[in-house]
Amino acid sequence: MTQALSQRKYAKILGTGSYLPANKVTNADITDMLAKDGIETSDEWIFSRSGISARHFAADGELTSDLALKASQKAIEAAGIDANDIDLIILATSTPDNLGGFPSTACVLQDKLGIKNGCAAFDVQAVCSGFAYSLAVADNFVRSGMYQKILIVGAETFSRILNFKDRGTCVLFGDGAGAVVIGASDEPGILATAMHADGSHRDILCVPGRTDNGALEGSAFLVMDGQAVFKLAVKVLEQVAQEVLEKANLTPADIDWLIPHQANIRIMEGTAKKLGIDRDHVVVTVHDHGNTSAASIPLALDTAIRAGQVKRGQHLLMEGVGGGFTWAAALVKY
Ligand code: UT7
Repeated sequence: MTQALSQRKYAKILGTGSYLPANKVTNADITDMLAKDGIETSDEWIFSRSGISARHFAADGELTSDLALKASQKAIEAAGIDANDIDLIILATSTPDNLGGFPSTACVLQDKLGIKNGCAAFDVQAVCSGFAYSLAVADNFVRSGMYQKILIVGAETFSRILNFKDRGTCVLFGDGAGAVVIGASDEPGILATAMHADGSHRDILCVPGRTDNGALEGSAFLVMDGQAVFKLAVKVLEQVAQEVLEKANLTPADIDWLIPHQANIRIMEGTAKKLGIDRDHVVVTVHDHGNTSAASIPLALDTAIRAGQVKRGQHLLMEGVGGGFTWAAALVKY
């Protein structure tokens, strides 16, 4: 597909969608599951430390691209466009369909959506910051005039990389997908974005294994130093929020909704408090979704839009933090 460069200055959110697998696993369910292996946990521990009550796990054979497809179909419908109007697909995931992320899950999604226009499609790997990274990338493509309708998806099947013998991690994560269609516009939409990384902290949240000569070397399970991640997360989330506020010439008082990565209610409340944003202005879905990594922000955004919380014209501050170490934010006029 070839297109003339757009003269429009802004990237606006046209529509959102999300999808959670049918299998809802409560804290009581996961407590029973772990007990079978003699591992102790409880609803009280999980909820008090993280704010999580339940998460959703994909069915056998249900792939990241399947979750992405369902979320994307809803976003495309909400945007009122045809799938073949999309000229770029950016899919953020750390749990791609194929080993090594090859082919990209974005390419698989393009095919499953029946898009035949040859549009570009690629994955973004920035773990839990992947969706915020993707918004920044997409915004710059729209502003440059190169693309006019971009499908951005965060989709994960983290249940496949959880070690159910490690109670410190397996109770925290879940599966899901969220999608956003953005389009070139004359009206302000995405006002400011910022992306950062510090690879020196790569070991505190990672999947340490690799494949060599057809065999797995090391572990294919997620490992996390929870306390190290917690400390760094609170610090960088405040910094990156301030950065996009300054870029957009706004203050925390202008923010209608803080939509942070949904990892831990204590991190979210701590960040809001540091910024001086009232708890009532924070979108919270972690209790029902768990930590769905790159999917968590678009899932929270779509949930809040469909619940009538987030309304057109409001200022949204979305921010993510995760493995790499990566962090990013986007300030959006919805
Ligand atoms: O998505 C990317 C970003 N990820 C995050 O933001 C996660 C950041 N980290 C966190 O959210 C928190 O650090 C956790 C929720 C992971 C852990 O909370 P914590 O208050 O830092 O607990 P802890 O790791 O210090 O563990 C406290 C105790 C330990 O026992 P001892 O050593 O005090 O006897 C753990 O062994 O809790 C124990 N523990 C558990 N007990 C019951 C760890 N996991 C469990 C469990 N059930 N599932």
